[in-house]
Amino acid sequence: MDLYTPEFVHCNGEKFRVYLTHEEIQDRVKKIGQKISNDFYDRHPIFIGVLNGSFIFLSDLMRYVHIPCEVDFLKLSSYGDEKVSSGQVTELKEIDADIRGRHVILVEDIVDTGLSMKFLIEKLKRSHPASLTSVSLLHKSDQTQHNVQLDYVGFRIPSLFVLGYGLDFAQEGRNLAQIYIIDKKVPDN
Ligand code: PRP
Repeated sequence: MDLYTPEFVHCNGEKFRVYLTHEEIQDRVKKIGQKISNDFYDRHPIFIGVLNGSFIFLSDLMRYVHIPCEVDFLKLSSYGDEKVSSGQVTELKEIDADIRGRHVILVEDIVDTGLSMKFLIEKLKRSHPASLTSVSLLHKSDQTQHNVQLDYVGFRIPSLFVLGYGLDFAQEGRNLAQIYIIDKKVPDN
């Protein structure tokens, strides 16, 4: 299968370069999947993916999980089409599953300010799951202003705008199989 893995890519007028390669991402996602398989081997967890950004990470992650499990999705929006968080969480789709008494694994592509994850943890706890575990592929820990519990993290990254592997820039670029950052030119002296 030919995945979409250019070294450089243009998206909405900006040039991006590879930051995390396909191999680096897959190695890390596989390790998280193996750890979740061990940690939840007798718990029949339900993964809840936060749309849109988590859909690729979650689909890879689940295929590295070798125990019985289920999946459902909810949808939030905090960024709109901008590169920085709007500071407001909008709930666009609820989960369908009844999670009372279930072992829930909440899956995000990125935790930035932490607002979305905090909102979701508080919301899902109100449905009385047996346990609530959080996973994020990326964590911009320097940017995080809200006190959020993150149980599994793929990569801690600096405060850079990231694109690809589910993450978008004005809805484009989610189909890139690697993670990209803006390719800043070094100014001439
Ligand atoms: C992104 C991401 C998280 C949130 C993280 O979603 O998927 O849900 O922002 O930011 P925070 O920690 O500052 O709350 P976005 O609103 O871009 O929607 P999308 O997943 O549809 O791209």
